[in-house]
Amino acid sequence: MEVRVTTSVAAFHDEAASFVSERVRQSPSAVLALPTGSSPVGMYRELVRRVRDGVLDLSRTVCFNLDEYLGLGPDHPQSYAQYMQHHLFGHVRVGRHHIPDGLAADPDAEARRYEERIVEAGGFDLAILGLGPNGHIGFNEPGSPPDSRTRVVELSPATRRANSRFFGSVELVPRRAITVGIGTILEAREILLLAIGQGKERVLRAALEGPVTAQVPASFLQRHPRVTVLVTPDLARRAGIGQRVSL
Ligand code: GLP
Repeated sequence: MEVRVTTSVAAFHDEAASFVSERVRQSPSAVLALPTGSSPVGMYRELVRRVRDGVLDLSRTVCFNLDEYLGLGPDHPQSYAQYMQHHLFGHVRVGRHHIPDGLAADPDAEARRYEERIVEAGGFDLAILGLGPNGHIGFNEPGSPPDSRTRVVELSPATRRANSRFFGSVELVPRRAITVGIGTILEAREILLLAIGQGKERVLRAALEGPVTAQVPASFLQRHPRVTVLVTPDLARRAGIGQRVSL
């Protein structure tokens, strides 16, 4: 794993966008796995800016979101479909984009269909991930096996509490979601982990340096040969992680 501590939060968003831009320039029809949550908001803002400035073209990329809440349709303000419209797809043209259908009549079949689409696309060239405060990646909660595929999952109480800030009340946070699996993520040719936010120091340390365990799903990334971890300076300091270390 290459761990890069950025010089500021602004530099974090900028470096994340540069990382993605570089990969897309090398491979304009790259297949990307995209995260949601607070972590990638600045990266999406920078990507949109670059497309508008004419220095980046996402129009041939194939985008797959990592997850979606079950029970929320694309018009629900807290659905990830809506999030992606707001932060990326509503502003720039991408080749194709996929997101699990939160209102699917048969969610298990929807999850299988989504996994098939990823396989048909040839797998991810680059999976961009956020880090949940409990160590989840996508919605792969603690306990998720490393060979898991796209599936229906129960959200943990910790995740529902953490995400209640977007819903106003924990009761309104859906109990289930569809997430791309850890096995699917680990088959990506390259992974970028965005480590930013409050209350993640212990889990970041555990992900980077702790034992590889299903209790910290992000620790499975240690098994992947090509992972870059971008860390904000304050999180690196709180987690006791040095500058630009290779683990
Ligand atoms: C959310 C998403 C994850 C995201 C993570 C981090 O629940 N489902 O894909 O990476 O939790 O959230 P945040 O970036 O808001 O800290």
